[in-house]
Amino acid sequence: MTSESTETVSGVALTRAFHDRFGVGPDGLWRAPGRVNLIGEHTDYNEGLVLPFAIDRATTVAVRLRTDRTVRLASAFGAADPVEFDLDTFNPDSATGWSAYPAGVAWELRQAGVSLPGFDLYVSSDVPVGAGLSSSAALECAVALALSDLCGAGLAHAQLAEVGRRAENNVVGAPTGIMDQYASMLGAADSAVFVDCRDGSSRHIPLDLNNAGLVCLVIDTKVSHAHADGGYASRRNSCVRAAANLGVKALRDLTVIDLPRAERTLDEEAFRRVRHIVTENQRVVRTAELLVSEGPYAIGEILNASHHSMRDDFEISCPELDLAVEAARANGALGSRMTGGGFGGSAIAFVPATDAEKVGYSVETAFAARGYQRPDVFAVLPSDGAKQQS
Ligand code: GLA
Repeated sequence: MTSESTETVSGVALTRAFHDRFGVGPDGLWRAPGRVNLIGEHTDYNEGLVLPFAIDRATTVAVRLRTDRTVRLASAFGAADPVEFDLDTFNPDSATGWSAYPAGVAWELRQAGVSLPGFDLYVSSDVPVGAGLSSSAALECAVALALSDLCGAGLAHAQLAEVGRRAENNVVGAPTGIMDQYASMLGAADSAVFVDCRDGSSRHIPLDLNNAGLVCLVIDTKVSHAHADGGYASRRNSCVRAAANLGVKALRDLTVIDLPRAERTLDEEAFRRVRHIVTENQRVVRTAELLVSEGPYAIGEILNASHHSMRDDFEISCPELDLAVEAARANGALGSRMTGGGFGGSAIAFVPATDAEKVGYSVETAFAARGYQRPDVFAVLPSDGAKQQS
C-alpha cells in the first residue's frame, strides 16, 4: 500500500519543463485536484444530489498567453512534440487524445464569450488516469481557471466547472454530468461538497478524517473504465426514458413514495434503475446529516447500502470492485463502495487509521487469490479545490 502520492508535481520542475519545451517561462501555474465521490452515484445527470470531495492529488498546468491565435499543448505524459492549432480554425469534432481536454476548454471558454489570444500550456499530473478519480476533470478545471485568470474573464468557480463539463460533453464526447468538475473546483480541506445538481447550489460538509482517526483508502482495481463507452451512456438513457414514462422532468422529482407506481409502470430493469437513483438521493441527504450530527464513523452502513444498490439495481459494479469492497469490509473497513462512473475504476473504504495497513494488505491478498491484477491501494484526504499555485 502506498500512503501518499507517488509523484508530487513540483512547481520548479514544471516551470523548467515549460521553459525547455517553449523556450520561455510561463505566466503562472494552476492546479486542480481529482476527486472521489463519497456518495451520490449517477444522480448528477438526474438533477439529483452528490457528495464528492477533492483529493490530495492534482493536475498542474503551466501557461503563458501568446498573441498570435496559436495554441501549443505539451505534457509530461504526451508525445514529444506539442499539439499545435489555430484558435480560429479549430474544429471541435476533430480533437482526439489528451489534448482534446485543454483544447475543449479553450473552445468552450470562447463559446462563453471569453476572448482568448492564444497560449502555450504544459501539463503534469499525479492523478492516476483511468482510475475513476477524475483526471479528466482535474485537467479541464486547471486549464479553465488558468485561462480565465490570465484573460481577466472573472468567471466564478462554478461557471468554470460548467465550462469543463461542456468541454467533456461537446468536444471529448463523454456524456458525463457536473459532479467531477464541481468537486475539483469547489473542494475544501477536511470537507466534502454537497451539490444540488438541479440548481447548482453547493455547500461544504465537514469531513475531518484525521481528527476522527479515520483513513479513506482508494482501491484502484486497474480495471479500465471509459465513459465514452456504452455502459455509462446506456444508464443515462434509461434514466431519461424512465423519467419520461413516469411524467417527471428528471428522476430527481421522485421519492420513495413514488416507487410502487414506478414498479407498476416500468419494466423490471427500468424500475431497478429508478430505485437506485431515488434511494441514492435519499442516502446523500442522510450521509450529509450524519456527518454533521455524528461525524464520519456514522456513515459506514450507508456507504455499504450504496454499493449494494449500484451492484444489484444500477448494475455498474464489476467482480473486482465487489471483491475490493468485500475484502475491505471483512478486514475492518466501516464502510466501502465503488466510486465514480463504475464498470471498473476504484472503490473507497473508510478504515480506522490503525487498520489501514491490514486492510490494504488483505485486499491485495484477496485479489492475488482470485488471479486479478494487483490493485493500487492508497490513502486520500479531502483537499482544497482548484487554485493558482504560483
Ligand atoms: C462520472 C461522471 C460524473 C458522474 C459519475 C457517476 O464520474 O463524470 O458526472 O455521473 O460518473 O456518479
